[in-house]
Amino acid sequence: MISAILSLADVSYSYPDGTHALSSCSLTIRRGARTAVLGANGAGKTTMFLHLNGILRPSAGQLQWEGTPLDYSRNGLRMLRSRVGLVFQNPDSQLFSASVREDVSFGPMNLGLTDKNVRERVEEALHAVGMTEAADKPVHNLSYGQKKRVCIAGVLAMKPEIIVLDEPMAGLDATMQEEFTAVLERLHGSGITIVVATHDLDFAYGWADQAIVMRAGRVLAHGAPREVLLQKDVQDELGAVPLVAEISRQLSLLGIDLRDNGYLPRSKGELLKAITAHTRQENRP
Ligand SMILES: Nc1ncnc2c1ncn2[C@@H]1O[C@H](COP(=O)(O)OP(=O)(O)OP(=O)(O)O)[C@@H](O)[C@H]1O
Ligand SMILES: [Mg+2]
Repeated sequence: MISAILSLADVSYSYPDGTHALSSCSLTIRRGARTAVLGANGAGKTTMFLHLNGILRPSAGQLQWEGTPLDYSRNGLRMLRSRVGLVFQNPDSQLFSASVREDVSFGPMNLGLTDKNVRERVEEALHAVGMTEAADKPVHNLSYGQKKRVCIAGVLAMKPEIIVLDEPMAGLDATMQEEFTAVLERLHGSGITIVVATHDLDFAYGWADQAIVMRAGRVLAHGAPREVLLQKDVQDELGAVPLVAEISRQLSLLGIDLRDNGYLPRSKGELLKAITAHTRQENRP
């Protein structure tokens, strides 16, 4: 059974200038899942994300939290925002305090917690993203990747049930991307539902349990990444294929079967391991 935590039912949204950014968009975020949202520039990913924590309100249609329509009253929105943490694409849109610690404290302080409780949450959040050492640094002196971590810490300190990240890997170097994936894995392991918008098909293919592909403000395809991201119309729309899947497919045409227990590799690491295992077997006397 699918346990929906947050869903959109036929949501349409037009910006004040008349741009139709979402058109009858329906989708479901499953509790505990890792969801990747893909789509070309302008497909509506960010607009959809801004609906998930109530920053934008649908022009038509409805959002539901566990099947109940969202409550847009002051209290309802406060509750929603403590449950759904949104990390913006550009860290500079999110960070505004002088120091890292101050910035991460801002959200929990507004929850009316005790000072001690706030301090504990902040330290825990900074630790989770590996930024404890930088707690007293001025935010404007941080590198881009460090700023992104502080944004995640700010959201974590709210102890949300869902974290929604808008293109978290964009602009990060390869090492930082790997570290970020590990941070996401740890968060997911602690029971948080994670939704990520990304243009990186390889990341989505290897990481996600659920892929949602958007086109022109609606959902073009959704389901398991191994199915969705191999669809021709999806690949045409995104202008790319998951490289690991394509290499495995090409090798199978050459008679090299990389399946392990029936499963093809999902990440570059798994692909290399499968090729090494295959070569070893071939070279066995
Ligand atoms: N503030 C705004 N006012 C008017 N139109 C907007 C605004 N923000 C976004 N749009 C338009 O809404 C549509 C969806 O944009 P959105 O930012 O949601 O796309 P996206 O999928 O996040 O794209 P990207 O991959 O480039 O981040 C686009 O046509 C965009 O030009
Ligand atoms: Mg966007």
